[in-house]
Amino acid sequence: MARAQSRFVCQACGAEFLRWEGQCRSCAEWNTLVETVITARARDRRPAPSGTTGPVAPVPLSASGDALVDRLPTGMRELDRVLGGGIVPGSLLLIGGEPGVGKSTLLLQVAGGIAAAHGGVLYATGEESAGQLRLRASRLGLGDGPAADAVAVLATSEVGAIIESARARRPAVVVVDSIQTMTVDELDGPAGSVGQVRESALRLMDLAKGDGIAVVLVGHVTKDGSIAGPRTLEHLVDAVIELGGERGGVMRLLRASKNRFGSTDELGVFEMGESGLREVADPGRAFLAEHDGAAPGSVVAAAMEGSRPLLVEVQALVSPAGYGTPARRASGIDPTRLALLLAVLGRRAGVGLGSHDVYANLAGGLTVAEPGLDLAVALALASSLRDRPVDRGTIAVGEVGLLGELRPVSGLDRRLREAARLGFERAIVPAGRVVGSSVEGIVVVPVANLRDALRAALVAATGDDAAHLQAPAEVARETVDAGRPVLG
Ligand code: TYD
Ligand code: MG
Repeated sequence: MARAQSRFVCQACGAEFLRWEGQCRSCAEWNTLVETVITARARDRRPAPSGTTGPVAPVPLSASGDALVDRLPTGMRELDRVLGGGIVPGSLLLIGGEPGVGKSTLLLQVAGGIAAAHGGVLYATGEESAGQLRLRASRLGLGDGPAADAVAVLATSEVGAIIESARARRPAVVVVDSIQTMTVDELDGPAGSVGQVRESALRLMDLAKGDGIAVVLVGHVTKDGSIAGPRTLEHLVDAVIELGGERGGVMRLLRASKNRFGSTDELGVFEMGESGLREVADPGRAFLAEHDGAAPGSVVAAAMEGSRPLLVEVQALVSPAGYGTPARRASGIDPTRLALLLAVLGRRAGVGLGSHDVYANLAGGLTVAEPGLDLAVALALASSLRDRPVDRGTIAVGEVGLLGELRPVSGLDRRLREAARLGFERAIVPAGRVVGSSVEGIVVVPVANLRDALRAALVAATGDDAAHLQAPAEVARETVDAGRPVLG
């Protein structure tokens, strides 16, 4: 009865077509249709979640379970912070990241942490053998002891076997590493194809919801940044957590791009070391590059990541462009935001960079999508162009508007307190309703617009620069001059 049929399945959205087409008619992506053998009986063979025998009846909202769910702390505070307090029992999580970033390492450490405090964990791996996993565990200091005893390793890529084992052992958490290696017996497609990935995830979701066992899926991320396989996976799960970091660097950043049980703005910061991922003791300092003295093009910003203030160094380099279109490269900063700042600098602050190559990035591989970073980026660009440093003890925070005006940011006091704690002495902030802001140990310099900010930030270098900068005509001329290689 199970007649094998061939369909063309879009690897981006999961839509099925009878014929190959260049563009998916459902999600408009190009070249995403892949021929997949589909066995007709697969879909309706999905077992009903246990505990839901018979028809499901509606229940009043007030009666649907405990209002407060007990979360399982994972033993890693930075991860708990991103999750919103720990893993919710019966939830389905997806941890995404590029191959080699440290997903398996993180989850093995989490498995050890949960097993120590809340009972068993089933770690199913389709990528490594049980021996390889054991080797890694001993590197992480999980070689033996009660926690190691409570983590059961299942080296399989068959979802049925995982579910069977989970129902028999009833662990608190099941880790599936990775969803791209998992297959469902009844389907013919290869592991990693949309059909297999989706069906495997659906069955594991039944396990999570039906049996109240939290399931953590590991998903590899493709080059274009999406979690490989169908994006439909992201709709299915309760939370998508992404582990990222600079290639070759030691910092690892954890962020939720979707979270049904908490906010998505919290950032977790780890360091990859000899014995796995370590929480960074002082994340407020982690994104400040180490160098002595002030350097042109470097400005420290006080950004907010969720509820946590983070000081981060913005670095910019501008140099006269050769022939052709000038380069604009941003890393950790939204390129469209950079383009906007370049335009505002040129039109409203006399800092013309139209004929310069522009490079801007954040130290430590951090990405910040917060408008409060604007002022620091603008100051760093101007500082590099004029080859004048901003004092090392100064931070800048503020959103830049199209008219060159500075707009207030949220949580200014929190940012200033963090800056003061880390030894900064001066803060350039938007004028306006925040003027009254006072934090011990830090001098607040309120400025209304970009021009004033440049004056306040760059002038400090040497005395005679002040007069030079204050005359608008001089500023304008310098901009013209700056286009010539002489200054570079
Ligand atoms: P891994 O967790 O296997 O990555 P993923 O599961 O995301 O593919 O991490 C592999 C990398 O981490 C590898 O390059 C080595 C490094 N690593 C350490 O630096 N220290 C350690 O203790 C471990 C276990 C791995
Ligand atoms: Mg792995």
